[in-house]
Amino acid sequence: MTDSTTVERPLGWHLEGPLDYGALVTDDFRVHRSVFTDPKIFEDEMVRIFGGTWVYLLHESEIPEPFDFQTRRVGRRPVIVTRAEDGEIHVLLNRCTHRGTLLCPLETGNQKRFQCAYHGWTFSNSGDLTAITYPDGYREDFAKEAYNLGRAPRVQSYRGFVFCSFNPDVESVEAWMGPARTIFDWAVDRAGGDDHVKMVKASTMEYRGNWKLQNDNNGDMYHVPFTHRSTLTMTRQRHGAGKSLDHFKGDSSPMTVRDLGNGHKMIDQRPSIDSVWERARPIPGRETQAEQLIARIGEQRARQYLEYVGRAGINLILYPNLYVGGNASLLVYEPVAVNRTFVHSYIALLPGAPPEINALRMRFEEDFINIGNRDDNEVFERLAAALGDIPEMPWIDVSRGWRTAGETVEADESLSGRVTYETGIRASYVRWRELMTKAPAMAVGV
Ligand code: FES
Ligand SMILES: [Fe+2]
Repeated sequence: MTDSTTVERPLGWHLEGPLDYGALVTDDFRVHRSVFTDPKIFEDEMVRIFGGTWVYLLHESEIPEPFDFQTRRVGRRPVIVTRAEDGEIHVLLNRCTHRGTLLCPLETGNQKRFQCAYHGWTFSNSGDLTAITYPDGYREDFAKEAYNLGRAPRVQSYRGFVFCSFNPDVESVEAWMGPARTIFDWAVDRAGGDDHVKMVKASTMEYRGNWKLQNDNNGDMYHVPFTHRSTLTMTRQRHGAGKSLDHFKGDSSPMTVRDLGNGHKMIDQRPSIDSVWERARPIPGRETQAEQLIARIGEQRARQYLEYVGRAGINLILYPNLYVGGNASLLVYEPVAVNRTFVHSYIALLPGAPPEINALRMRFEEDFINIGNRDDNEVFERLAAALGDIPEMPWIDVSRGWRTAGETVEADESLSGRVTYETGIRASYVRWRELMTKAPAMAVGV
């Protein structure tokens, strides 16, 4: 950790020689612009952050059957997540061990084997090299086993949510989650529990900016009345007060932001929400679907389901790449380049629920993606348009709330602050500094 008072910050300060990552996030919570704009730093993040801790991949319901697979990225590493015949989940590097071709170009499917399109080497769905084309051409002691697909050395499924790590020494997912685990469990329980969730992809958004902007923003309520002003005004004018984000009442709101350790953070909207259904933004078909449901299954059961259709309640962000909403819907951040990011949105459908409920869950997910995230993406691109181009102004500030009476330590040792504080964002940059200043402990299993 660097003492900010001793860090020289002359105008025009720029990076030369080996990067001192400890100096790029100061103890008084300024962050250097290069953290968002420097391609070299981005490359190191892919190694030290996306290779150094747990990264979320998928929900088990996305590969329910033997030989099902999905392709994903762990940072930039392409991987194939497979379910083998015995049910075990494997996270295989999607790279032929002959000359390095992307082995599987598909997003998803069901295959017992993966054959490379270049020279036909063939691998089993658990990663073993099963066939080499014209094997006679290889020397006698050529060890085929040494050419199995690479794999993530650590894979763990927690309540159906699958994480992997390239750091063989990483702690368990439970320990990594820490106090965030209780919040995560709350969201999954509300969705009826792990066995009741069917995770489906709703959309992919792309913006021209750094991946950390979306991660920060999901733990930021400071921006809501400004960035989303038109959304709030439109909702209020069309549907009256008391709907949507009206429960956000600025700095005096009873909602909180929390630093949950290990870079995890959350916005806790629950103190301001009596009924998620009443607070949720009106969407097309909402009242009709609800009326049909009440008529068919009765008011009480219908109300129980309706309370959980929308995201509201919590924003939980597990560092580095997963957002979990109050209805167990997800955003997954995929870094593409230092100035380019994909955000994948998933909705937790409930196979046992009435069809109206799953339709509403999907409509609610589309709603904020189509309206709110547009506002956010515009700001991310404005950030990218200014932050990188003024070397005379190298620092941004994330100190709001730090060393004020509004930040308090909770019983679970998390730190909570007023909802407009940058408490959660600081949590992520403390973790960023911790991971980036460590030698990488990555390994590829075989
Ligand atoms: S690169 Fe895959 S078989 Fe040659
Ligand atoms: Fe926003």
